[in-house]
Amino acid sequence: MKKNTRTAFIRHMLENERSIEPSPEFSYKALIKSRQDYDEMYHRSIEEPEAFWAQMAETHIDWFKPWDAVEEFDFESDNPYVRYFRGGELNVSYNCLDRHLDGPRRNKAALIWQGEPNEEVDVYTYQRLHREVCKAANMLKRLGVKRGDRVVLYLPMVPQLAISMLACARIGAIHCVVFSGLSAEALKDRIVDSGAKVVITSNYGYRSGKILHLKDICDKALDMSPGVEACVVVRRIEKRTDMKVDRDVWWDDQMAAESPHCEPENMESNDPLFILYTSGSTAKPKGILHGTGGYLLYATLTMKYVFDLKETDIYWCTADAGWITGHSYLVYGPLSNGATSLMFEGVPNYPKPDRYWDVVEKFGVNILYTAPTAVRSMMKDGEQWVNNHDISTLRLLGSVGEPITSKAWLWYYSAVGQGRCPIADTWWQTETGGVMITTIPGAVDMKPGSAALPFFGISPRVIGSDGDDTAPNEGGSLVISRPWPGMMLGVYNNPEAFKNVYFPMPGFYLTGDGAYRDEDGYFWITGRIDDVMNVSGHRIGTAEVESALVSVLQVAEAAVVGYPHPVKGEGIYAYVTVKEGTVINDDLRAELCNHVRANIGPIATPDVIHFASALPKTRSGKIMRRILRKIAAQDTENLCDISTLSEPSVVNDLIQETKRMS
Ligand code: PRX
Repeated sequence: MKKNTRTAFIRHMLENERSIEPSPEFSYKALIKSRQDYDEMYHRSIEEPEAFWAQMAETHIDWFKPWDAVEEFDFESDNPYVRYFRGGELNVSYNCLDRHLDGPRRNKAALIWQGEPNEEVDVYTYQRLHREVCKAANMLKRLGVKRGDRVVLYLPMVPQLAISMLACARIGAIHCVVFSGLSAEALKDRIVDSGAKVVITSNYGYRSGKILHLKDICDKALDMSPGVEACVVVRRIEKRTDMKVDRDVWWDDQMAAESPHCEPENMESNDPLFILYTSGSTAKPKGILHGTGGYLLYATLTMKYVFDLKETDIYWCTADAGWITGHSYLVYGPLSNGATSLMFEGVPNYPKPDRYWDVVEKFGVNILYTAPTAVRSMMKDGEQWVNNHDISTLRLLGSVGEPITSKAWLWYYSAVGQGRCPIADTWWQTETGGVMITTIPGAVDMKPGSAALPFFGISPRVIGSDGDDTAPNEGGSLVISRPWPGMMLGVYNNPEAFKNVYFPMPGFYLTGDGAYRDEDGYFWITGRIDDVMNVSGHRIGTAEVESALVSVLQVAEAAVVGYPHPVKGEGIYAYVTVKEGTVINDDLRAELCNHVRANIGPIATPDVIHFASALPKTRSGKIMRRILRKIAAQDTENLCDISTLSEPSVVNDLIQETKRMS
């Protein structure tokens, strides 16, 4: 689309709020070709869920032993639970690898790896990946890892990360991937909470041309984690690395000695596959526990239908495997379907803002799945970076992680997709395992900014504080009223949290998101309604940042809220009061930021630190975050009722302080 045409198109769409039909050419070739096909399959999945999931599980997954019961759950009692395919036995790595080795897929690229340095590329066929996974599985066994043991993976985006995940799955160990941008303190917390026996890391990593000292960070974490028996180190960069005798071993040395044959363990469908920590409303991240059969089926099925997957597609999910998107749509979903998944170590804007388009052109990518924060930053850099590349191989675009505004959606659609590629906006969460609400490409009309309709088997509702469904276009709390196979099994080490956080109201899984449903039944997600921020698609708990801030000696109190940010979506705004006698200056501000970085990681660094004289509190001493959020957003026209505050004048002081700061 030419720039002028595109600008006119975006303006027209924004003014008229029209929906966009998928192109007939796309629909004709799509797996789900029409709204009618979608409706029929959706209704069947809701009306006869057991028959639907049984049929899907039989046709999409290879089982070693059939199940005894398809679906068992309780959303009502004090002990909510969900189980799928009880008694069924399978192995996830078998489904992702072995079953593709008999036919032509054996020599197909399973994983294409593009390193941050452009010249570093590697391709793993299914056969090669299978051999590497078997060797890694044998290595883990030799290091004493047994079925049910936890293994922490603190790795950058290198093939060894996917290999390690699959190796754990092969022997029934539970992997716990920790995003390589998190700090030593955060890594230690996850190692200790999961009780990991072995940690796999790499000596260094690349990020935007800089070298990350991952082994040093890992060493600090391991000094505080006495339970870890061995640390395997991937040699990412040939550079001096301190290795601790009797604990550290090199990945390549170990792998060289291992056999490329390893029988997969027979896992029961509800045996845990992985733990992934995520932020909630408390200072301590929760270990979300996912199972085997249900999770794999859900990742496989959503991958196939949401991305309209074809045998020859080159599919690229830009998410880091340290997050759930990387688990379900970089590793398990694509490989279970026998697809070609591209793994990219770099970032969108290094060395130049056209890195994504360079990669799309180089590999002829057909499906691109990325986040609104990347779209916004590319939109800011300007479309000339896109236009300099031939990206005509793209046929489908995906979005995940945060609400995408209609403006960013339309830019993505017209500047990247050239008005040709449908966009699947996908709403889901770490806890849901896979996509829950989406625009099934080719089948349903797209409304820019709306995640559209539920995936098969999903029954979302928007309810008000009375528990009743809200009227069309009226906001409320997004809940899910039936289970689905990708649903988390529980919270590791914290069974009460499963009930308290997700089932405070009997009968519904509470998502923590706000939403409304329009007159056509389309869902519009408005963002978190709990104390969780979404910063560049990263989920960060306000309580986590507050707890890091108050651990600084000079800090008396801290209250953290999100505020609208043009590129990050939400920025982090920290109100801090200091102890008497403390000198407030830029050094203290820097110290606070450094402290948060060291406690959580750079992604949690506050964008604004507001040294406040006092914080607004109710008479019972509760901080009024609603007011703090409005002040941070500079939306102080309508502050609602402040009469319940113990000292209403505090609010005015804060507003004046904000004015002085800006
Ligand atoms: O607020 C929603 C937002 O991201 C949260 C889940 O974050 P996380 O568990 O880290 O998983 C991210 C990747 C699935 C949700 O509660 N979110 C995710 N996708 C969307 C979204 N908000 C709006 N639209 C989306 N497509």
